[in-house]
Amino acid sequence: MNEHDCPCTPADRSESETTDRRGLLKWSTILLGGLATAATGVPIIGFLLGPLRKQKDKWIRAGALKEFAEGEIRLVDLENPLAKATDGDTGRIAVYVRRVAGTQFQVFAVNCTHLGCPVHWFPQAGMFLCPCHGGAFYEDGSRASGPPPRALYEYEHRIENSELMVKLGHLPTLQQPA
Ligand code: FES
Repeated sequence: MNEHDCPCTPADRSESETTDRRGLLKWSTILLGGLATAATGVPIIGFLLGPLRKQKDKWIRAGALKEFAEGEIRLVDLENPLAKATDGDTGRIAVYVRRVAGTQFQVFAVNCTHLGCPVHWFPQAGMFLCPCHGGAFYEDGSRASGPPPRALYEYEHRIENSELMVKLGHLPTLQQPA
């Protein structure tokens, strides 16, 4: 049936179109309201449930004792226990291992304690240097100069069956003790 066949008056048709537009607006409002609620609600729910799915630090093997020469500092790339399958290489953690003597070790976070840039070890100078703002640290991780306010952060570690184990996961900052 076309409009010539329709028995309704022009006023009836106009009212019908107005009703259709109101319905469309109503459903659009409900849909957009639902999307806005989901957009704000999902992060809040994630925040509230965060503590339930909090992952723990784990002891990760850094290598056999014989792999670390006494008096040397070496960069070691380790598996991050908090990494997800999609993280790829960025899910790994690099740490500096210093074998002081015998079973005495230090394991440093590579992040400068100023703003977190990765520091580099220069054996000739016997210093860790930060490329970002010139921070410098001695071989024992203590602050030498520049803007860093404190020594390098150290990971908790232990010797187990002649292997160096490092507790990895969260960065060993002051708020997140090792
Ligand atoms: S981040 Fe290292 S000195 Fe600023």
